[in-house]
Amino acid sequence: MKQVDVAVKAEILNGLKKKQARLAPKFFYDQKGSALFTQITSLSEYYPTRTELEIMNENSPAILSAVGACSTVIEPGAGGCEKAERLCRLLQVRRFVGVDISADYLTAGVNRMKSVLPGTEVRAIPGDITKRITLPKDIPRDRRLIFYPGSSIGNFDPEQAVRLLTRMRSHLDAEGSLLIGVDLIKSTQVLEAAYNDQLGVTAAFNLNILNHVNSLIGANFNLDDWRHVAWFNASKARIEMHLEARGPTRVSWPGGKRFFSVGERIHTENSYKYTPESFSELLKRAGFDEQTPWTDQKSWYTMVLARQGSVSRRVAS
Ligand code: AVJ
Repeated sequence: MKQVDVAVKAEILNGLKKKQARLAPKFFYDQKGSALFTQITSLSEYYPTRTELEIMNENSPAILSAVGACSTVIEPGAGGCEKAERLCRLLQVRRFVGVDISADYLTAGVNRMKSVLPGTEVRAIPGDITKRITLPKDIPRDRRLIFYPGSSIGNFDPEQAVRLLTRMRSHLDAEGSLLIGVDLIKSTQVLEAAYNDQLGVTAAFNLNILNHVNSLIGANFNLDDWRHVAWFNASKARIEMHLEARGPTRVSWPGGKRFFSVGERIHTENSYKYTPESFSELLKRAGFDEQTPWTDQKSWYTMVLARQGSVSRRVAS
């Protein structure tokens, strides 16, 4: 077992002991999980990544002019920094700050950016964006752009999302902005296919959380005992991913154990989908009143540039 934060262990154990067991999606991303996620992004069924890229490419002049002057791009959950690299090149930004829970993956991304963008000051901050983050004092506060692509916001339920976005806004001054990508509600068939790909990469990604948990808390999950299940819960507008016990299954870890009966599930992820209107409302609740959205031909996905808006800007200046 490796050295693991007590709070992380407590969070995992707490979830495993719940009547409806759950594991937070941030635990997908060990090294293997991060690599599997990268594989997911190029699956034919998984449209979000390529659709977002298409929106950014087709609208780059408009995005560039809407963002305007910007000194620092900050990306929570930057991962391998592939998207950040493109954006920083487009904006010719002076400074990039990547924040991620998977420090190894982030360091690799940041090092690559340093070599390909020598004019940009590139920094890595290991951190869990679901917790409060204090940025180093020497990162200037003016004209920041928080970049939150990939529909990562979909992992949070709407209430949590408002809190997270409000906290992001607290890192911005009146001129600062947020560029955020979010997946839109569409046919159930398209949505469900994206989380049940033919090659089984999403299944492997979901199951791998058990490997990661084994190494974090010293549990003995056997991946063969579990099956990947994912469906669109229309009443809650979210894809749900679970791991379902194939048979009666016993799992133990130092200091505890749990029995799962056949068909019992561990809830591993929610991926909320929005309409352009419901997402706009969410941003407003977080204090982002000024919004410029872009979308693709099919309206499957949207990117929004959001600011706190003229009222607060007047107050602030
Ligand atoms: C990284 C949260 C945006 O919800 O689509 C992909 C994660 N899970 N396939 C998503 C994911 C299964 C992804 N996000």
